[in-house]
Amino acid sequence: MRDADRIDTSRPRWPTFRHDRAPRSLGVGLLLLLFVSACQPGDTGAGTETGVGSGAASAFIEAGGAFPEGWPFAAEDAPVTATEGMVASTDEFASRVGIEILAAGGNAVDAAVATGLALAVVNPEAGNLGGGGFMMIRLADGTVFAQDHREKAPMAATRDMYLDEDGNVTDLSVRGHLAAGVPGTVSGLWEAHRRFGALEWTDVVQPSIDLAHGFEVTTRLVSTLDAAQEGIRAFEHSARIFLPGDAVPGIGDTFAQPDLAAVLTRLRDQGPDDFYRGETAALIVAEMERGGGIITLEDLDRYETVWRDPVAFDYRGYTVHSMPPPSSGGLTMAAIANMLERWDLGAMGWNSPETIHVMAESFRRAYADRNEYLADPDFVELPTGEFLSEAYADSRAETISTERATPSAEVNPGIDAFLDESHTTHYAVVDAEGNAVAVTTSINSWYGGKVVVEGAGFFLNNTMDDFASKPGTPNQFGLVQGERNAIGPEKRMLSAMSPTIVEDADGDLFLVTGTPGGATIITTVLQSIFNVVDHGMNVVQAVHAPRVHHQHLPDLVFHEYGGVGGATASALEALGHTVLERDPGPPDAYFTGGMSGDLQLIMAMPDGSLTAWSDPRRGGTALGR
Ligand code: DON
Repeated sequence: MRDADRIDTSRPRWPTFRHDRAPRSLGVGLLLLLFVSACQPGDTGAGTETGVGSGAASAFIEAGGAFPEGWPFAAEDAPVTATEGMVASTDEFASRVGIEILAAGGNAVDAAVATGLALAVVNPEAGNLGGGGFMMIRLADGTVFAQDHREKAPMAATRDMYLDEDGNVTDLSVRGHLAAGVPGTVSGLWEAHRRFGALEWTDVVQPSIDLAHGFEVTTRLVSTLDAAQEGIRAFEHSARIFLPGDAVPGIGDTFAQPDLAAVLTRLRDQGPDDFYRGETAALIVAEMERGGGIITLEDLDRYETVWRDPVAFDYRGYTVHSMPPPSSGGLTMAAIANMLERWDLGAMGWNSPETIHVMAESFRRAYADRNEYLADPDFVELPTGEFLSEAYADSRAETISTERATPSAEVNPGIDAFLDESHTTHYAVVDAEGNAVAVTTSINSWYGGKVVVEGAGFFLNNTMDDFASKPGTPNQFGLVQGERNAIGPEKRMLSAMSPTIVEDADGDLFLVTGTPGGATIITTVLQSIFNVVDHGMNVVQAVHAPRVHHQHLPDLVFHEYGGVGGATASALEALGHTVLERDPGPPDAYFTGGMSGDLQLIMAMPDGSLTAWSDPRRGGTALGR
């Protein structure tokens, strides 16, 4: 439980990331075309400062807004600004690949695909070939697309595959070969490029091949490898590549991944056929057979990316576009936003007990319904209309008291009519034409199930844990999910990943937002929108601001370490909330230390320029041109 007054102002500020040198080589002459005019200050030695620094002016600051004393991220930093395009991701090398693709004449989809593939190399803890994700695309003409390349359960998966003989949940859904769902990333990136790309496929794949031949190890990679090394060491091939000489590589060491370079080269030359039907498919299946996994050649061959109807909802005159199921993001955000429109959060004040209370109460109710009702729409009937309806939001919101917290035990799933029937990463790109792409991609835990495919050099996901292994018991994110999200052959597991694009009242592009963070993804993305729309923050402030979270069960208001002051926490406790400050971990636990996911946020400004900020919580970089 929280220590009411603990905001440790003596705690060292977050270290600043430096990527002082560009990767060894960056693809077929693209460097010649490089013109980076804006970059995230403090994170890079490349690029010029031109265009940086529109100042921190914002309605939030003008109204006297401030972050809690001791909070490690400033409200005053100037955002990255640009006019010709922007890329924001968790890794500078990957953002640089994206910006170079834009400079070479690629559009936002080309840049997103290239950035995603680069992340599979430089961010192996979350970026991936062996996982899956979701992509939102908004073309400059306003058409919005939602692409689902989520993993699927293998055909041999069974409902109780993670239970022991006593019916208890084992750790096999999070660790090892059996934890892997059939990967979707390669299919998704290929399909996006096939449908919308402007450059040749070979040009968008090449930079990741160059990075796989060697890049300089970053602080983030060292930190996450250090945290995951015990799990990685359990698998010989994983350790051989990622713990060379049985040790975590040093910052600045050159890290080469020849097996991965070979896979990416086949991807460049053969497209996804190699991954789903060719040599790489055979390597995946051989790895499965070696380690007791169940993904077969037929599973890989049958994998398909699905284009789905995006979820759209109005929030105070802005239109929010996000992912439909099997992501729970769009519908859960819609339910929360519709409830919260009853309160003037701006007038109630950012981070005030009143605002946190009504947010937590709305989160609690929407997550109760998310956890119970949402699942793969190809297998289960979903109450989509209810999640989006004002009537549902009314019926939910009218049970919210401003005087007291409602215990989660009293908040049952609330869609009566329907009852009658029955370690991730995010990146965002906007190009000069105004096409926008938001992608959240994952192998679930950092380094997934810790299994590297021998001969292929990439980690497999452990996303099977996003199913309810035993409905009614928590998964690794503490989400207590229901029967509809039970395991089934070829079913997609429910996700919280929420790549999101917001339009202003005129229907013009406004925000591109998203984050990792497991169950907290939905509330983090929403708070980035509330911070801008309700509290007048600019992109830096909206990213830096501390966040709160509630997910129905456990019945707790979580907040980031140092994010809520003692008086506010006491006021929430007086309303009946149990407030939990996230554990900061050891002093050098940069990436786990009491923080939620690293948000990537791009804002289209009224004058046609772009501003962006990449979250320092995991040391990302926004680059503009
Ligand atoms: O799809 C989901 O909801 C999870 N697999 C996301 C995992 C995640 O964000 C972990 N990262 N911090």
